[in-house]
Amino acid sequence: MKAIVYHHYGTPDVLKCEEIEKPTPGDNQLLIRVRAASVNPLECGMIRGAARFVNGLRKPRVTRLGVDVAGEIEEVGRNVTQFQSGDAVFGICIRNPHASGVGIWSCQGAFAEFVCAHESTLVKKPDNVAFEQAASVPVAAFTALQGLRDKGRIRFGQKVLINGASGGVGTLAVQIAKSFGAEVTGVCSTRNLELVRSIGADHVIDYTREDFTKSGQRYDVVFDCIVNHSALAIRRVMNLKGIYVAVGGPHGHWLGAMFRTLMALFIAFVISRFASRKLIIFIARPNRDDLNLIRELMATGKVTPVIDRCYGLTEVPQAIRYLEEGHARGKVVISMPQQRSDLQSTPRG
Ligand SMILES: NC(=O)c1ccc[n+]([C@@H]2O[C@H](COP(=O)([O-])OP(=O)(O)OC[C@H]3O[C@@H](n4cnc5c(N)ncnc54)[C@H](OP(=O)(O)O)[C@@H]3O)[C@@H](O)[C@H]2O)c1
Repeated sequence: MKAIVYHHYGTPDVLKCEEIEKPTPGDNQLLIRVRAASVNPLECGMIRGAARFVNGLRKPRVTRLGVDVAGEIEEVGRNVTQFQSGDAVFGICIRNPHASGVGIWSCQGAFAEFVCAHESTLVKKPDNVAFEQAASVPVAAFTALQGLRDKGRIRFGQKVLINGASGGVGTLAVQIAKSFGAEVTGVCSTRNLELVRSIGADHVIDYTREDFTKSGQRYDVVFDCIVNHSALAIRRVMNLKGIYVAVGGPHGHWLGAMFRTLMALFIAFVISRFASRKLIIFIARPNRDDLNLIRELMATGKVTPVIDRCYGLTEVPQAIRYLEEGHARGKVVISMPQQRSDLQSTPRG
């Protein structure tokens, strides 16, 4: 089968589409025929060596790439009880669903024709959601949901600001915050104002014309995908019991990623010195209950994934380069052509 692999850290040029052996599912795993996958800043960081302390100092130990996946089950492991061959599923494919810290995000390799995933990390795809849409959400939606609900403790009627509202995480965060009944303000650039309004934001702030930290408004929750303001500026826009959740971080070059993380930590330190305001930096963790909730939100139309561009499997380097430019509108998806058997079974009009 064809798969994207990398044997050295570097720019997206290190990625190669190679012929490798088709994997065999373990007892609790499923073999998925990939119909779509999506690109996250996580993968950009992996190839550039941001996780080299976990994945090998000099060269990557895990050479496959891609976590978010949607596809059809080709084969089930012998202990699998909840799925059968032919089921359409989506979720994430990671090496060890029980790993701790960042280690949990070690890819199984969704950028391939086939990939194995643990049954606990997948759910059935709603019929009214396309494979590309389903594949676009898992990592970004875990981040938005857990950041707003568990860390931001979002409640009905609260004022929530999403900085970076037009990106992969931000477009989901706007919709998830609305599903909790919050009054949402999205920060984005001029060209994305209409998009952010169309997914439900009550107010939009154009960051090219206005600095939201100088607007005089205060928020109960600030959900920050960008982390580009000083601690004191962030403090100005938070209500006395406000919570600031920073999810921005590893994006692009690993030195840049480290800088952003240090900056977020510094903001955390400064904010924690004031009253009862709280700052939280966190790494999302996959879990099945949240995946089911995300499935439900999509099935009922409360969340509609925003897809910027679709690329083919051999175009993964271009897809990653595009995401690294930092201007994606929603998610960047890898779409696999339907296989011959599907095409033959499609009735002709
Ligand atoms: N903590 C976690 O577990 C976790 C999980 C996933 C992702 N993340 C992190 O979350 C961050 C966001 O991820 P993502 O997938 O949403 O990234 P993304 O899709 O690449 O974000 C791009 C978006 O950011 C907008 N943007 C750029 N500069 C901006 C600014 N100054 N103000 C407001 N918006 C701006 C861009 O809009 P314009 O083109 O209009 O500028 C674009 O729409 C990344 O740093 C990622 O590493 C963390």
